[in-house]
Amino acid sequence: MRVLVTGGAGFIGSAVTRVLLEEHHDVTVLDNLSKGFRTLVPEGARFIEGDLRNEAQLPAWLRGHDAVIHMAAFIEVARSVTEPLVFAENNIINSVRLLQAMQRAGVGKIVFSSSATVYGTPQNLPIRETDPLGVQSNPYGASKVSTEAFVATYNQLYDMDALILRYFNPYGPNELHEPETHAIPNFIRAAIEKRPIPLYWGGEIVRDFIFVDDLARAHTAVLGLRGLQYFNVGSETGTKIIDVVREIFDVVGYETPIDNLGERAGDVPATYAWSEKIAAATGWRAQVPLRDGLARTVDWFRQRLINQ
Ligand SMILES: NC(=O)c1ccc[n+]([C@@H]2O[C@H](COP(=O)([O-])OP(=O)(O)OC[C@H]3O[C@@H](n4cnc5c(N)ncnc54)[C@H](O)[C@@H]3O)[C@@H](O)[C@H]2O)c1
Repeated sequence: MRVLVTGGAGFIGSAVTRVLLEEHHDVTVLDNLSKGFRTLVPEGARFIEGDLRNEAQLPAWLRGHDAVIHMAAFIEVARSVTEPLVFAENNIINSVRLLQAMQRAGVGKIVFSSSATVYGTPQNLPIRETDPLGVQSNPYGASKVSTEAFVATYNQLYDMDALILRYFNPYGPNELHEPETHAIPNFIRAAIEKRPIPLYWGGEIVRDFIFVDDLARAHTAVLGLRGLQYFNVGSETGTKIIDVVREIFDVVGYETPIDNLGERAGDVPATYAWSEKIAAATGWRAQVPLRDGLARTVDWFRQRLINQ
């Protein structure tokens, strides 16, 4: 398939691009490099340095592709609280620009990067796709709910195939967000540099960590599907954050002190996925156990710190 990946120079988009190329798809990456890196775009992919805001160019960039995997967005929750308009513009409005241009360019399929955040505070665990969407405590979450709604509307209006992937907590090599607000890269960096581990809630909250290579494979798994479909993409295992810290200590072979940061507003106490729907539809399942994924991520951060 000829696939255009928005945000393909980012953490997850570059992994998705690599898997697409391995599976012999023809890939174009569209990224404005506001947060991504040219060096992360795998060799073999066409690269367009461009912005989704560019309504005039979008149809020309899109023409000739069979599908779009739409990952370009701003992801930093705290910044979304202080700059809601920036998030509404880049995450929602630019997604609508993309959908409109796809429709005009005759691209009939989108895979959209959504998030488990759309469920808010879940009523039941594990979370199923049929569970209700929750109230959002920040504009980032609101941008994911809104964009899901626009993607679904394009399915209704123009019969666009719309595969919505709700990621749980991705982690792995190449996570280079600045600032980094995610737990695993911050823990690993602190452990390698022998600094205290910054920990909220005493590490008692529970998350479902999904290794980035597993997550990337979910995108190619759904490419052949039709219609409007929603899928949770998780490992189906809830892990306490303190247990992740213990595993990282085990991988590096020593412990560093814990910096207890107390409670943090807006954090949901526990989330983990029921992912049997995507398994039944495509055969996809998470394969990399947390311990192996952490070891691979520690290796990658070590190499990076040595080479800096
Ligand atoms: N990382 C997570 O924990 C997580 C969890 C759930 C969902 N997601 C979603 O997955 C997607 C990818 O996340 P990531 O962690 O790889 O983030 P990332 O910041 O590493 O990648 C996003 C990429 O999009 C590009 N981009 C942003 N705005 C753009 C624009 N207007 N035009 C062109 N390119 C633009 C950036 O330069 C960057 O390369 C996002 O949509 C995010 O909301 C991420």
